[in-house]
Amino acid sequence: MKVIVLDSREEAAVTVSDEILVALRQKPDLVLGLATGSTPTGVYARLVQAHVNEGVDFSRVSTFNLDEYLGLPASHACSYRHFMKVHLFDHINVRPENIHFPPTEGEQLVARCAEYEQSIDRLGGIDIQLLGIGSNGHIGFNEPTSSLASRTRIKTLTEKTLKDNSRFYVSGDSPPRLASTMGIGTILGAKHILLQAFGERKANAVQAAIEGAVSALWPASALQLHANTSFYLDRESASGLTMLDYYQSTNENDRELRRRGLL
Ligand code: PGA
Repeated sequence: MKVIVLDSREEAAVTVSDEILVALRQKPDLVLGLATGSTPTGVYARLVQAHVNEGVDFSRVSTFNLDEYLGLPASHACSYRHFMKVHLFDHINVRPENIHFPPTEGEQLVARCAEYEQSIDRLGGIDIQLLGIGSNGHIGFNEPTSSLASRTRIKTLTEKTLKDNSRFYVSGDSPPRLASTMGIGTILGAKHILLQAFGERKANAVQAAIEGAVSALWPASALQLHANTSFYLDRESASGLTMLDYYQSTNENDRELRRRGLL
């Protein structure tokens, strides 16, 4: 795992969006796994800028979102389909037919969750998966005690997640208790994972994910089993890490190796 501590979330947005844009130049039909919440908005703003100002082309890109609430129509201001339209899809030239969300409406959700996995596989898997992390260590809506091998399915949200996410709802309303989410196994299938975390609220989860034991109690700790995951942190979310000096020297050495063409 790479652990990169940056001065601000803006700096993280520049670094992560640059990673995506470099990959897009190399592979115009990039398959992106996308996240919602407050964490990725800076990255989406940079991708929109790249399209509007530099004409970066997303017409061959396919996207798969991590999760979506059950019972909210796409038009609901708190649905993740709405979030993605507002922050990204309405402002770039991604084709509507290339946009995918885990199923939340209609019948046979179990079979359609399996089809979601098949759609990812048919496109050769996710090239880059963008992630945030919950203060309880969840990734997607894989709550603590989720199977580390889980695939796309319906999950019940914890009280902690409902409380954390109630800030997006007008007073009196609370988020739905059920959601459809990629599994931890699905996420681990991505070729490259970019996780961002900001603020002290995330410090415990970040420490457990990077330096704790691999445990279903901290779902993000499963990323220790992934060969190509980078954490982009601000100082606050990194404040619980005990090996910060080591991560920093590793990054410096990597830069030097890259300069010499060895990486
Ligand atoms: P946030 O949520 O980006 O709104 O902090 C992240 C998450 O719960 O995965």
